[in-house]
Amino acid sequence: MTTSPSEASTVIEVRADSDVVRVRQSVRDFAMAAKLSLVDQTKLVTAASELARNTLVYGGGGEARVRILERTGVAGVEVVFADEGPGIPDVDLALTDGWTSGGGLGLGLSGTRRLVDDFELDTAAGEGTRISIVKWRR
Ligand SMILES: Nc1ncnc2c1ncn2[C@@H]1O[C@H](COP(=O)(O)OP(=O)(O)OP(=O)(O)O)[C@@H](O)[C@H]1O
Ligand SMILES: [Mg+2]
Repeated sequence: MTTSPSEASTVIEVRADSDVVRVRQSVRDFAMAAKLSLVDQTKLVTAASELARNTLVYGGGGEARVRILERTGVAGVEVVFADEGPGIPDVDLALTDGWTSGGGLGLGLSGTRRLVDDFELDTAAGEGTRISIVKWRR
């Protein structure tokens, strides 16, 4: 299986609430360009919105990269969130439905994982967090 990025990609700084809106809009644009179904567009936008908010609230800000991927002729949209915040000490716990370290519902990460096709989380205490999600056209 080979995955090669297309030319089309964009980087959005995530520093304020208004940036979360920009991430949503950009992800919607890419999802439409990749011809994802309306339901899958909405799933990806919802997932990206949750991760953008986590990047802002817990990661202290960071960036989102959005791009179209192609894998053996099938298009998909990848969104990668990266921050240089405190990291996630216990990933299994953080991915548990209902677990929050703050005042949230604790459904962002677990819900996001269910909404997308590919979900990769790299983090280390004190070294930040990188989360990559992909939704493929079907
Ligand atoms: N980028 C991040 N950096 C550090 N910790 C994070 C990051 N993203 C998530 N976390 C940790 O993982 C926990 C779970 O995240 P999740 O999005 O599932 O829930 P929440 O943000 O607390 O609540 P909700 O998203 O449902 O409002 C957070 O409470 C936080 O402790
Ligand atoms: Mg959250």
